[in-house]
Amino acid sequence: MNSVFPYMRNLRPGCRIVVLSGAGVSQESGLATFRDNNGLWEEHDVYEVATPEAWSRNPELVQRFYNARRKQLLEVFPNDAHKYLAKLEEVFEVVVVTQNVDDLHERGGSSNVVHLHGELRKSRSTLDESLVYDVDGWEITMEERCEKGSVLRPHVVWFGEMVPMIEEAASIVQSADLLLVVGTSLSVYPAAGLLHEASSDVPVILIDPGELNTSGLRNVHHIREKATVGVKNLVLKMLEYQKDS
Ligand code: APR
Repeated sequence: MNSVFPYMRNLRPGCRIVVLSGAGVSQESGLATFRDNNGLWEEHDVYEVATPEAWSRNPELVQRFYNARRKQLLEVFPNDAHKYLAKLEEVFEVVVVTQNVDDLHERGGSSNVVHLHGELRKSRSTLDESLVYDVDGWEITMEERCEKGSVLRPHVVWFGEMVPMIEEAASIVQSADLLLVVGTSLSVYPAAGLLHEASSDVPVILIDPGELNTSGLRNVHHIREKATVGVKNLVLKMLEYQKDS
């Protein structure tokens, strides 16, 4: 852990910490990742449940898939990684840019979260995507309608769909003083491309127990730990460092 100190030297209270997170940050809360062993995409065919084509072919199947994920989400809780990332707000300005559709960053106390791939606890109109609603409980039924009379779909970004928040996310990463990447395989674009938006002198700290392709990136430090351990230790070090310096 001492090797991250050089990255902290330039951090001052109020500096902007940008967190880019993926499914790994919620894994220890009991939510499966997508591409690890027993990951969601091992159990389910992406083309059956997570594309616009799948929705037009069999909306009931897609709705059931997301209803089941939403039900599970209501049964789990934020873990130490979510909570310690929120704790960083005590000293720094923190923005969490997440690929996750769960609300565990918010429930863990983070006050500034940008969801790149949508939010599981929201539904939206199939006629007018600006009509977004909170889901009451875990289920969206095929009978429910938007105010324009159209069927409601999960408010998530499916494969092949645009990522509306990507430009905002890119400018957030460009403004970072430190980029913290937690629990993402960096295999899905355009989200994975955000790492290259950080200016070249900005430290990038990755927290992930797995192998990651960091080719073409400078100033990168990979902490090969699970999120709850890696994030907690790093945040405690960062806060301690601020106190001592
Ligand atoms: N702590 C930290 N990282 C972990 C943990 C853990 N406990 N467990 C697994 N990981 C890491 C894995 O090593 C892997 O690098 O989390 C990453 C999970 O990768 P993916 O399953 O590919 O998830 P993610 O990167 O978030 O997927 C991106 O793909 O399926 C789409 O829209 C979906 O947002 C998702 C996007």
